[in-house]
Amino acid sequence: MTTSAAATSGSPAHIAPTSRPEWAALEAHATRLAGAHLRELFKADSGRGPSLAFEGPGGMLMDISKQRIDAQALAALIALARACGVEQRRDAMFAGAKINSTEGRAVLHVALRAPRGTRTMVDGQDVVGPVHEVLDRMAAFADSVRSGAWTGHTGKRIRNVVNIGIGGSDLGPAMAYDALADFADRGVRCRFVSNVDANDFFEKTRDCDPAETLFIVASKTFTTLETMTNAATAREWLLAGLGAGKDAVAKHFVAVSTAAKEVSAFGIDTANMFGFWDWVGGRYSMDSAIGLSTMIAVGPAQFREMLAGFHAMDEHFRTTPLERNLPALMGLVGVWNRNFLKCATLAVLPYDQHLDRFSSYLQQLEMESNGKHVTLAGERVAWDTCPVVWGQPGTNGQHAFYQMIHQGTSIVPCDFIAFCQPAHDLGQHQDMLIANVLAQAEALAFGLTADEVRAQGVAAELVPHKQFDGNRPSTTVMCDRLTPRMLGQLIALYEHKVFTQGCIWGVNSFDQWGVELGKVLAKRIIPELSGPAPKPAHDSSTQQLIGRYRAKRGR
Ligand code: F6P
Repeated sequence: MTTSAAATSGSPAHIAPTSRPEWAALEAHATRLAGAHLRELFKADSGRGPSLAFEGPGGMLMDISKQRIDAQALAALIALARACGVEQRRDAMFAGAKINSTEGRAVLHVALRAPRGTRTMVDGQDVVGPVHEVLDRMAAFADSVRSGAWTGHTGKRIRNVVNIGIGGSDLGPAMAYDALADFADRGVRCRFVSNVDANDFFEKTRDCDPAETLFIVASKTFTTLETMTNAATAREWLLAGLGAGKDAVAKHFVAVSTAAKEVSAFGIDTANMFGFWDWVGGRYSMDSAIGLSTMIAVGPAQFREMLAGFHAMDEHFRTTPLERNLPALMGLVGVWNRNFLKCATLAVLPYDQHLDRFSSYLQQLEMESNGKHVTLAGERVAWDTCPVVWGQPGTNGQHAFYQMIHQGTSIVPCDFIAFCQPAHDLGQHQDMLIANVLAQAEALAFGLTADEVRAQGVAAELVPHKQFDGNRPSTTVMCDRLTPRMLGQLIALYEHKVFTQGCIWGVNSFDQWGVELGKVLAKRIIPELSGPAPKPAHDSSTQQLIGRYRAKRGR
């Protein structure tokens, strides 16, 4: 495949989605379906399950039949996607057009997993060749750490890899480390320090021997306050622990960044730097050099398997008609739930303990991408955008918050994610796990009527308590096995889902201006906490809290 930068951003003229006839049609479908219960929809169509389940690559099945939708409403959503230019903007992204217009950048995380030998052009330069050069350097380095050829300053082999980064420079690698635990070399432990809270650094390093510890300072900008603070603390910890001078840094610190100047200024030799590019957004970067810890953990071959999984879903998204396109359909179901059923949150509930951090990862991917109230044209939106994304693995969540999902006053759409093949086939564990995920989706959809409760002989006064309304929507994504390849596919599924929704909501899914103000204000407050008592410069609340903190710290 050879692609070249498209001249346009692929965005259609900035028309409010709500003013399109397709939106009005969807409102009519929502009214039509308002009284419909999933019980009746299933009863009326015995083939509903298979007709609303879609095959993706690698044996992934996405079943949306338990969403409060029917074939006509789905067709109307697809028409909306077409009217909003999802396909054109997708093609523009793949072609390297600068669709991140507020930052003047291309959006090419898909190039990070493009096969060797293919080409994607940005500003007249191919970017896939450089991607593979970095991957090759990462592989050589990862192999040398894994084999023990790379040693620390004292000659000991590396046993601890500590990734220092935050947001996109932390959440993906930390999530992947857990997700791929069964593929990891257990002789090298990876730890992840992200918070500027010193507890984080202390806890993650307290049992590490500095002589056996390698720090990866991961930061796209190499200016992020938390990361630079933790990196400086790590350098002090290392040199104090080794009783060595600055020359020890070279064997214990590597950097992953787009900012060579800042990396050198920190004291890391740029020979030990793994680069990436401004066309990779932080939250889309776990498959770039930001994934160095992942590659050290699972090895270059499995890392490339993960990239192949990403690429398989990229190709599915790029080439499959919207009618059968998993990420597009997932995005459209989300638009339906958010804008037409008015659901404010989405629970992502993987039934695999290794995906413990998956919903935290998705929080950044979805909420930093589409948590926007201004369109690409700079106009305030008059429609809802990103829901709150949250969740944790089942079955644990069942014993915590599912009560509210079943019988609370808000409708919470759920994404259930399940794997048929367990990593550890112990006793009946897997059958129990799968029975639970299926049972939850079934209970949410169909509920239990008062008559059914009474038929169980339940006392009259308890019937209202034991009755379940049902009609609570969910999607089930069923995969074969959680492998590096499947993880790549799953993440790309959500990346392109986010893309689809961003197109419909008309927002830029690739900037994050909303995080800036807090950073600026924190920088202003830092000196006010420790220096001479500051002149009151804040509101009376902030001022009182600064005063109290200073007093408690004896300042
Ligand atoms: O503050 C938000 C953010 O810019 C994220 O988008 C990003 O992933 C994170 O900070 C870390 O940024 P960096 O990799 O530049 O340290």
